[in-house]
Amino acid sequence: MKILNFGSCNVDYVYSLDHIAVTGETEATQGLSILPGGKGLNQSIAITRAGNSVYHAGCIGDGGEFLLELLKANGVDVSFVDYVNTKNGHAVIQVSKAGDNAIFLYSGSNHMISTEQADRVLSAFSKDDILLLQNEINNLDYIVKKAYQAGMKIILNPSPFNDKIRQIDLNMVSYLILNEIEAKGITKCENVQKALAYFREKFPDLKVMLTLGNKGCIYQDKKEQRYCPVFKVDAIDTTGAGDTFTGYFVGGIANENKIENILEIASCASAISVTREGAAPSIPYMDEVMEQINCLKTNGADMKAEILRIKIEQYFDENLMDASLNGLADFLGYSPIYTSAMVKKITNETYKKYLQKKRLEVSATLLLQTELSIDEIVKKAGYENASFFRKIFKEKYGMTPLNYRKRKAK
Ligand code: RIB
Repeated sequence: MKILNFGSCNVDYVYSLDHIAVTGETEATQGLSILPGGKGLNQSIAITRAGNSVYHAGCIGDGGEFLLELLKANGVDVSFVDYVNTKNGHAVIQVSKAGDNAIFLYSGSNHMISTEQADRVLSAFSKDDILLLQNEINNLDYIVKKAYQAGMKIILNPSPFNDKIRQIDLNMVSYLILNEIEAKGITKCENVQKALAYFREKFPDLKVMLTLGNKGCIYQDKKEQRYCPVFKVDAIDTTGAGDTFTGYFVGGIANENKIENILEIASCASAISVTREGAAPSIPYMDEVMEQINCLKTNGADMKAEILRIKIEQYFDENLMDASLNGLADFLGYSPIYTSAMVKKITNETYKKYLQKKRLEVSATLLLQTELSIDEIVKKAGYENASFFRKIFKEKYGMTPLNYRKRKAK
């Protein structure tokens, strides 16, 4: 079984700065690094560093020659990469002191993929070969349809999410690897469990790999849901972490490894990548992952706590209107006394205070993201009456709900 990755190659202009610049702000940077990147290229390199072979297809333009050399140096087969006479695609990346990033993209060569190239490349692959795709190239829907007709196993990483993803029939996709933002974009559901339920109902054959940043990841197929906690490290640059995860995940699927092992290895590889600068340069080799997996491993107790935290969140997300300690206890399958102790241990708040905090958070979001009236918000968030809501809202935010809506909207 062959792996084909039809994807982007970018030149990454990485600026380090104190914080991600906000609208209207001009901020001095502490440095600029010009590095190889692009979700396609990063994922191909992650696949080879995980120990698998991969064919990369796509377009390289002016200034992107070093990207092709890097792919080759990493053992990626580049016979399906075309040269086009235009500027290579690039990304401008801000990396903050805290290791967070914000990216904007210039597609350039990555949007020069013709249907002729797609047909030519796909004709070299057959039934059950794997096709990996991200959302940084053009003609994505065409490639999906053609590959599906050829019987290929399609793994889609709908990143970055935009309306183009909606043109893709997910019935044609075998695996979807996505993060919370992408899941929300596709399903329009406001929380993780609802998004997973959406996929289960609408696309029962789709295998979903949902990454949750520093909260770990959840895999779901027809038969099971599996959670893997995050490996705790000090992040210096999260760029490319998702690509590292995807490449290792795809490698594991191609090798038909057990899903629990795939999740653990992919999570560990991705954790190592955030301790290093850049996207492609930060991707570890399988040897390094194997060396570090045991010392970075989250212990069983942490994992149970993490699962419990996700379930508590799920309960509040789904039952905020009429949440109760007994309801949560039923949901978790514990006694109310034990549930109350668990909530305290995991959230550092009493059940009552935590519920209040969730209600305030939801109310604040509804104030900003909807035009619901105060009475409607009071009802949705589960408050007994509007005057109590106004009182505690003012205590927390220092202003009335309506003023909060007005000021934040400016
Ligand atoms: O996922 C990280 C990548 O996103 C960067 O390398 C950048 O090129 C953008 O495509």
